[in-house]
Amino acid sequence: MNQMRQQITEKLGGRQETLRQLYFTEKAGEYVRALSSRLGRKPTCCVTTFGCQMNARDSEKLSGILERAGYELTDDEGADFVIYNTCTVRDNANQRVYGRLGHLGSLKKKNPDKRVALCGCMMQEPSVIEKIRKSYGFVDLIFGTHNIYKFAELLVLMFESDQTVIDIWEETDQIVEELPAERKYSFKSGINIMFGCNNFCSYCIVPYVRGRERSRNPEDIVREIEALARDGVVEVMLLGQNVNSYGKNLDSPMSFAQLLLAIEKIEGIQRIRFMTSHPKDLSDELIEVMKNSKKICRHLHLPLQSGSTRILERMNRRYTKEQYLSLVDKIRNRIPDISITTDIIVGFPGETPEDVDETIDVVRRVKFDNAFTFIYSRRTGTPAAAMEQVAPETVREGFDRLLKAVQDTAKERAALLNGQVLDALAEEVNEQDPSMLNGRLSNNMIVHFKGGRELVGRILPVRLTQCCGFYYTGELAGKEHE
Ligand code: 5AD
Ligand code: SF4
Repeated sequence: MNQMRQQITEKLGGRQETLRQLYFTEKAGEYVRALSSRLGRKPTCCVTTFGCQMNARDSEKLSGILERAGYELTDDEGADFVIYNTCTVRDNANQRVYGRLGHLGSLKKKNPDKRVALCGCMMQEPSVIEKIRKSYGFVDLIFGTHNIYKFAELLVLMFESDQTVIDIWEETDQIVEELPAERKYSFKSGINIMFGCNNFCSYCIVPYVRGRERSRNPEDIVREIEALARDGVVEVMLLGQNVNSYGKNLDSPMSFAQLLLAIEKIEGIQRIRFMTSHPKDLSDELIEVMKNSKKICRHLHLPLQSGSTRILERMNRRYTKEQYLSLVDKIRNRIPDISITTDIIVGFPGETPEDVDETIDVVRRVKFDNAFTFIYSRRTGTPAAAMEQVAPETVREGFDRLLKAVQDTAKERAALLNGQVLDALAEEVNEQDPSMLNGRLSNNMIVHFKGGRELVGRILPVRLTQCCGFYYTGELAGKEHE
């Protein structure tokens, strides 16, 4: 009974927060209208995203609120309001933000009405806040990952303050539902199914900046996707740092596979994708649900990180080389047409050329359809930062060898599809050649084919006629599937 009461209170609390934020969106709208009459035009805003799909989805939420408040969205950083949604997973992401901030500062000198805001993972690091305070005093608003739902309220504070507004939380258990979002594509959308991560891989800063794992209630997820389907969305991407552990901490626990079954039933949704899967938590139940599904895409992103059991242990990944290989075997046996992609880190502390050989061995055996390869980046506060680092020349040499192996096997896999007719979702008009469309196959591969703008958003059969390394060119092969 008590538990039920607590659940209801939480729900009401969440709903109340949604209403509060909608109120602040209106209030921010008053400031935007005042600015508009001063400028004699609609003020513009630009949301720049760094990093992963989670950030891309957060940016859609930021854009939704800005648009509701009366801003016109643009990609131009000369806009009246610019917000950077930052990433800190590797140091080069941080450096890019600092580099571009300098430029924003000079734009702001020319336009005193301009407002600049920073949010996202990088802002959860105290050293970053210190540096911005010291060197980029012109920034008007800074907030982190846990209070992004308060963006409308923070906007109002920004308009009412002549100093930098800074609001960073260390943690939250709040999940605020049903705030507006402005989708980049009308026919596909990302959906957060969980937030945070509990895995603490020893190189990774995500658990520190995104907090502990929290799953959304399945009813809220299903309701959101039903509304998206009514609005014309045909493909959903379920987002979480480790979707395979979805639902473990819910009041009534459920598995990720069960959630997929519920989403599969939603009319209008034709494709379901998800990322990311941690190999240690990938269940047989999930493999079976994928195998039997007509909607779940034939693609699994399964980060390997390293093929050396010794390094995997130091990374705190909780699987061995052999366990990863047999998991892949099991998946490919059950679902032969699945494509498997991965992430690999080179240069983790203590990694030797022999460890890289082990990783290359896994690459050659698995034959990944695609792999993102990263040079290890030391992140302050993570256990690996205190370990002995590898010399840059050794890292470079290992990286080049790995990249070659990855490219060879990916090409080999891609070539297997030559001549097949497969369904592609037409996503956009090709920038280089506007008579062509860019489509995405169920297995996540890109195919370019001739077709008009009116086909964007449709799923069409395409014959893959020419393999160009990692993508295909093709031609429409008959009518669209209903
Ligand atoms: N250095 C390099 N790559 C990293 N990743 C995460 N942390 C680091 C780091 N410190 C990579 C992992 C992860 C992907 C999103 O980013 O491969 O899967
Ligand atoms: Fe980082 Fe590991 Fe969590 Fe992925 S699973 S976000 S790599 S800690």
